[in-house]
Amino acid sequence: MENPLSRLGALMLMTLCAGVISGEAQENNLLPQPAQVSPREGRLAITDSFRISLSGYQEPRLRAAAQRLARRLARQTGIALPDRSEKAPSPAALVIHCDHAGEPVQTVREDESYRLEVRTEQARLTAPTPVGVLRGMETFLQLVDLDTRGFGVAAVDINDRPRFRWRGLLMDASRHWMPVPVIKRNLDAMAAVKLNVLHWHLSDDQGFRMESRRFPELQRLGSDGNYYTQADVREVIAYARERGIRVVPEFDMPGHTTSWFVSHPELASAPGPYVIERAWGIFDPAMNPTKAELYAFLDGFIGEMAALFPDEYFHIGGDEVNGKQWDHNPRIQAFMRRRGMKGNHDLQAYFNRRVLAIARQHGKKMIGWDEILHPELPKDIVVQSWRGQKSLAEAARQGYMGILSFGYYLDHILPASFHYKVDPMEGETAGLAEEQKSRILGGEACMWAEYVTPETVASRIWPRAAAIAERLWSPQEVKDVESMYRRLARVSRQLEGLGLTQRSSYGPMLERLTNMNDAAPLKVLADVLEPVKSLRLSQGHR
Ligand code: ACM
Repeated sequence: MENPLSRLGALMLMTLCAGVISGEAQENNLLPQPAQVSPREGRLAITDSFRISLSGYQEPRLRAAAQRLARRLARQTGIALPDRSEKAPSPAALVIHCDHAGEPVQTVREDESYRLEVRTEQARLTAPTPVGVLRGMETFLQLVDLDTRGFGVAAVDINDRPRFRWRGLLMDASRHWMPVPVIKRNLDAMAAVKLNVLHWHLSDDQGFRMESRRFPELQRLGSDGNYYTQADVREVIAYARERGIRVVPEFDMPGHTTSWFVSHPELASAPGPYVIERAWGIFDPAMNPTKAELYAFLDGFIGEMAALFPDEYFHIGGDEVNGKQWDHNPRIQAFMRRRGMKGNHDLQAYFNRRVLAIARQHGKKMIGWDEILHPELPKDIVVQSWRGQKSLAEAARQGYMGILSFGYYLDHILPASFHYKVDPMEGETAGLAEEQKSRILGGEACMWAEYVTPETVASRIWPRAAAIAERLWSPQEVKDVESMYRRLARVSRQLEGLGLTQRSSYGPMLERLTNMNDAAPLKVLADVLEPVKSLRLSQGHR
């Protein structure tokens, strides 16, 4: 006997599909858009016999990724699929071929390219490296669509590779503590939109968030108990690697260092005592670059961190040193006079050179904010520009490599379309010679955490960071704002399926504000209001 519910289900499905199909032209849903897409005739159906097979180079990372893909596909479609695909019936519906191993520690030079061919009988994903496979898997998942026949993937040929090699997201765990699960969720979301660097801002005036075994007082007194253990860090790095994401730690110095001085006032340029900073802004405390013991300390600390974080880059911050403690310290002033330094920028350059030597000794390359730019620094550093494309262009002209963050500050609460229009190769950088342009490695979205908590942070990052991800991955000509917004809405829903909470935390937060009453009227109000923009700018900060 026919089950009336199944007829109802079929009817609902068809109604749903009618909406899906009528609204949209041929445009695909991919975000970021691939370098090359050629639609073909046909459609691969996703059914309960869908299996994945792996061929060519194999490693646990690939097997785990195939398993996650099966799980996500099952969740996305509601079709029960087995996790394990080892006993794939031949032929498998998705055949994945990886040519060779990737880099033991992923670098900016890692090959992320892939090719995806979808036909009625089968889809083939081929890539030189596991990271390319990971990128292609995300594309495949985004291609899954629904029509009157059920879930499937329209036949297509995709050849894809990123436009920029460095596509990051900065997460600030200092201003508000961000527990490990929050970081992991965001790594999942980053992978979904092909971002490849987690820039982890681990110390600032308001908190020292990293366990040091050499100097345990740093986190004991500087963190209110909220810090990552070394085991946490290893876990996050491994989780990121599984998703083709590098982890670059930032320990901001010589400014933004109040939390260090709570336990180590001897490193500061004024006597102290110091307490963890509770306000937001730019503060006076700064390391004393004239002290030999500072460099001995940093050698120990950076050495310890360099062994823990495998990435070739080490971020030393370097931003927003107001120089007041230096101006008021007669010994520092005498030191500067003796060495013929003309101002605080020279003193900071001296500090940077010393820190660079330490970083190098521990096998690291240095990256810092654009204040570190100084003719005395060697050319193998990377400059992260937050003050404008002009400083990025200047750095590239002087022979430095650079990444852009100006225009990508998510905490300014600007619309996705604003960030989408900011291109690392436009404006001041457009006039650079080809060789100079090749020094621009990419960019990073920045999630400064003064005004977010673990509960709200997803709603600040997502989906807007996905617009930045497209800017950094897709060809420069991909610029249609309307198309971006349409795809962004879809990706945002997809990210919720990965555990992100930008949509799901909204209702419960409104309900709390209404003392657990019906929040519908408040939602009407909240939906028509816009947040204050650039809050940090209005405080004279950034
Ligand atoms: C910064 O926004 N001060 C890097």
